[in-house]
Parts: sequence; C-alpha cells; structure tokens
Amino acid sequence: MKKIGVFFGSTSGKSGAIAEEIEFYLKKEDVSIHNVADGLDNIKSYNNLIFISPTYGVGELQKDWESHIDTLKNIDMSGKIIGLIGLGNQYAFGESYVGAIKILYDIIIKNNGKVIGFTPSEGYLYKESEAVIDGKFVGLALDEENQRNQTPDRIKNWIVEIISLFN
Ligand SMILES: Cc1cc2nc3c(=O)[nH]c(=O)nc-3n(C[C@H](O)[C@H](O)[C@H](O)COP(=O)(O)O)c2cc1C
Repeated sequence: MKKIGVFFGSTSGKSGAIAEEIEFYLKKEDVSIHNVADGLDNIKSYNNLIFISPTYGVGELQKDWESHIDTLKNIDMSGKIIGLIGLGNQYAFGESYVGAIKILYDIIIKNNGKVIGFTPSEGYLYKESEAVIDGKFVGLALDEENQRNQTPDRIKNWIVEIISLFN
C-alpha cells in the first residue's frame, strides 16, 4: 500500500467531488483527503501527493490555495512526487484553461519536487493554456461543465500512470 495525500481546493464543489472520485479509484492504497481550506501543514507527512485546483479569475488559483500560497512556497519538496489535477471550463475560459495548475507546477519545481502525470492536450477545445508545455498539460485537465462524460476514463488512465510512479 502506498501512502498518498490528496489536497484539494474547491469553491463550488466540483473539485471536492473529484477528490472523492480519486479516493475511490485509489481504494487499494492508503489515501487521505485534505481540504486546502484547513491548511497545508499536512503536506509534509507525504512523499506521494495529488494537488487538485480549479482555475478562477483569469488563470488564477482557487481562493483556498491562494490563501495558503506562502505556506506552499516555504515547503521543501525534495523527494516528493506530485500529480496535479486542474478543473476548468475550456469554452467559457478558453484563453486561460486550467491555468492554476501551472502556478502549482512552478512552485513545486522551484522547491525541488517532481511532477508526474503530464497528459496530451488532444481532445480539448481551449484556445490557450499556460498549463501546456510541449503539447502536454502539466497534469490531468478536467472540464466538468463541458466534458463530464470523459472524466471517469481520464481519471482511470491517469491513476494507472501515477500509481506506477509513486513510491
Ligand atoms: C469567476 C470564474 C472564473 C473562472 N476562471 C476560469 C479560468 O480562468 N480558466 C478555467 O479553465 N476555468 C475557469 N473557471 C471555471 C472553473 O474553474 C470551473 O467551473 C471549475 O469546475 C470550478 O471548480 P470548483 O467547483 O471546485 O470550484 C472560472 C469560473 C468562475 C466562476
């Protein structure tokens, strides 16, 4: 069993529901879910992590992540392996789709963490996304407003990959 910490911020509930779906698919592992509204101190007790943030504003983090961003910036992430999940709306916000996960990505890399689980950007209809590097999202991009029917398969495929890379 791998010990995995899932941290989510959610304003209108969709990312919280995704955290529960992730917990379901990881039920053979030792998974704990944390709402970022309760703080980020627990991050230190995990080496395998999943961070979930929807994007708000124009390409910005969800407000609970935003409130704790200074804590995050001060966590040494050496030895930590982290998968990112971004929620967004690729039609309504097609020029800043899931931008929030790039903000998390940059902090993790700066603090010596490793980000796993990049996914191809094919199959999405956004115009621009800060979160795409060399044709891949820096995590798993979900769109519960427009492509909810694809979410279960996207999660299942992503979980298979990240589980194999976690310690
Ligand atoms: C005011 C506002 C701004 C948003 N800005 C973006 C954005 O820049 N990029 C994006 O991909 N989605 C954007 N969204 C869509 C949300 O990320 C999406 O609805 C998400 O599923 C909400 O997740 P939550 O229910 O966990 O809060 C925005 C939504 C609202 C209401």
